Amino acid sequence: MRTAFAPGRVNLIGDHTDYTGGYVLPMAIDLGVSVTVDPGGDRVVLKSANEPDAVDLPIRLSDPRSVEKGWVRYVAGVIAEIRPVSGATGTVTSTLPPGIGLGSSAALEVAVALALGYAGPPADLAVACQRAEQRSSGVPCGAMDQLASTMGVAGHALLIDCSSNEIKPIAVPSGCEVVAIPSGETRNLAGSAYAERRHSCQQAEYFLGPLRSAALVDVAKLTDPILRSRARHVVTENRRVLDFAQLFRHGKLAEAGQLMYESHRSLRDDFNVSTPALDSIVERLMKTPGVYGARLTGAGFGGCVVALTAPGALSEGWKMEPSGGARVQ
Ligand code: GLA
Repeated sequence: MRTAFAPGRVNLIGDHTDYTGGYVLPMAIDLGVSVTVDPGGDRVVLKSANEPDAVDLPIRLSDPRSVEKGWVRYVAGVIAEIRPVSGATGTVTSTLPPGIGLGSSAALEVAVALALGYAGPPADLAVACQRAEQRSSGVPCGAMDQLASTMGVAGHALLIDCSSNEIKPIAVPSGCEVVAIPSGETRNLAGSAYAERRHSCQQAEYFLGPLRSAALVDVAKLTDPILRSRARHVVTENRRVLDFAQLFRHGKLAEAGQLMYESHRSLRDDFNVSTPALDSIVERLMKTPGVYGARLTGAGFGGCVVALTAPGALSEGWKMEPSGGARVQ
């Protein structure tokens, strides 16, 4: 028997920056997906306690979109990408609610790949699973979620430069907690404007060159107001990630928290991916004693708010532990 576990992630700051080679700062969390299998045969047969449909797929599968949607298709995407040499029969269990912006699909992909015997370096595993996600969902996602899941370091968040996937672990300072507060709105990125936002960034890059190195004075010269605000979010968000990393590293939690709130406003006003439910949670939390900062986390369009707080400041939400990356147990 082989058991693989892959964590979900919460992103402290840096959203909608990964797919233009910018900066992100997620941390792997203590919630995730476990896959236990008995390797052998030439089919992948998996049951999940949380899903009515079972997976029963051949290991020689090339088009994940030929199978039904949902979790079966994510598994098909992984099989098509990693091309396992042998099949497996087993079960999937998850402590990570799907569709709330905590990286559940990435955790599933990574855990399945490891359970099917993937043995390459963790960064390559992340990129293979990013491709699996793109092929199965049709969403042109970046690699943040998969990198956080494969490369997590206990007690640390990860400053990731998405132009090279270089990672610097940043110790989570003592005297703070990271709390995820679900908005109650689940979302499916395949039905969201995620692809449209990514396309706008590509169009802005046509005029400005890489947004990663674009200057705000040049962004201000874009004549299309939509492209201008999308580009302004990305350029200012990259700056906030780097500034946040410095402040966080030195335990300057109030200033770091303020950057989280600025990130939320930028995602709300310039990138237009927030919702009234997310906004009202963030505004309420920002007035709560002991909360340093709060913002939507992940793609937006629903999902979760992440808050940086003094210990015990919130009785709601889930306290997230910065955790190690995916592993075969
Ligand atoms: C989703 C994608 C990531 C990233 C975030 C937004 O989680 O999978 O690649 O783009 O949205 O930051």
